[in-house]
Amino acid sequence: MVKIAISGKGGVGKTTLAAMLAHLFAKENYRVTAIDCDSAFNLQSALGIRKKIEPLSELKEVIEERVVMEGGIFRYNPRVDDILDEYSEFSENGVRVAVLGTIEKGGEGCFCPANAFLRAILRHAIFRRDEVLILDMEAGIEHLGRGTAKGVDLLIAVVEPGTRSFETLSRIKKLSDDIGIEKFAVVVNKYIETEESKKLIESINFPVLGIIPYNQCFVEADLKNIPPYESDCEITEFAKIKENLIRFLENEDWDN
Ligand SMILES: Nc1ncnc2c1ncn2[C@@H]1O[C@H](COP(=O)(O)OP(=O)(O)O)[C@@H](O)[C@H]1O
Ligand SMILES: [Mg+2]
Repeated sequence: MVKIAISGKGGVGKTTLAAMLAHLFAKENYRVTAIDCDSAFNLQSALGIRKKIEPLSELKEVIEERVVMEGGIFRYNPRVDDILDEYSEFSENGVRVAVLGTIEKGGEGCFCPANAFLRAILRHAIFRRDEVLILDMEAGIEHLGRGTAKGVDLLIAVVEPGTRSFETLSRIKKLSDDIGIEKFAVVVNKYIETEESKKLIESINFPVLGIIPYNQCFVEADLKNIPPYESDCEITEFAKIKENLIRFLENEDWDN
């Protein structure tokens, strides 16, 4: 059982990494669920799903029924065990994909019914041994509150070599701590080797799972709207990242 969340600044390659990892795990016969928690909603197209997936936050009637008790009191632990099966689509390679939808930003840990519902789904996505959960998150969902991603084993912060992207690292680490995730690691994407970028990478004070070179091929795959794993792009680094993250979860070392 592997539960990972992927975060980082917009455009760094979170969705590409989420889709690649989902694909690589699915290929090894894991049952993979990928949840798009980013308001950009593009995980499904990265996994080749054209049909619209209804965002979970839009299930107004279900939310009302499950979360709000008589007298208008919210239930902290609404029943949500059937939701992911009901409101998801499968990609061709067998990844189950759901979309979280827009989270109301009413302050940290806002107790709006929709947020209580979404939190419960993320908390209770209980998984069997052969299951993998991948959350494609934007850089800040701290308003979901502490304990949201409880049970998530690892948060991967994706960065590209650049000061602005690196500045988000400590913020993402804090988010990871705030929502209660145990392990934290970094993936460097769109890497082009220069003196400066080498130095920047050496300055990372967290475990690095892999360094993916910049490759125009991914941009072209995105332009053609095909999943990165269906293009002819070089994907060996993604396979290495998948192996490294398993080692990391098992507290073993790895080489980069
Ligand atoms: N290693 C890479 N080299 C070049 N382009 C990349 C690479 N990884 C991702 N991209 C491209 O960057 C853009 C943003 O990637 P995406 O995964 O959607 O980022 P995010 O989900 O973080 O916003 C896409 O066009 C994608 O194809
Ligand atoms: Mg994205």
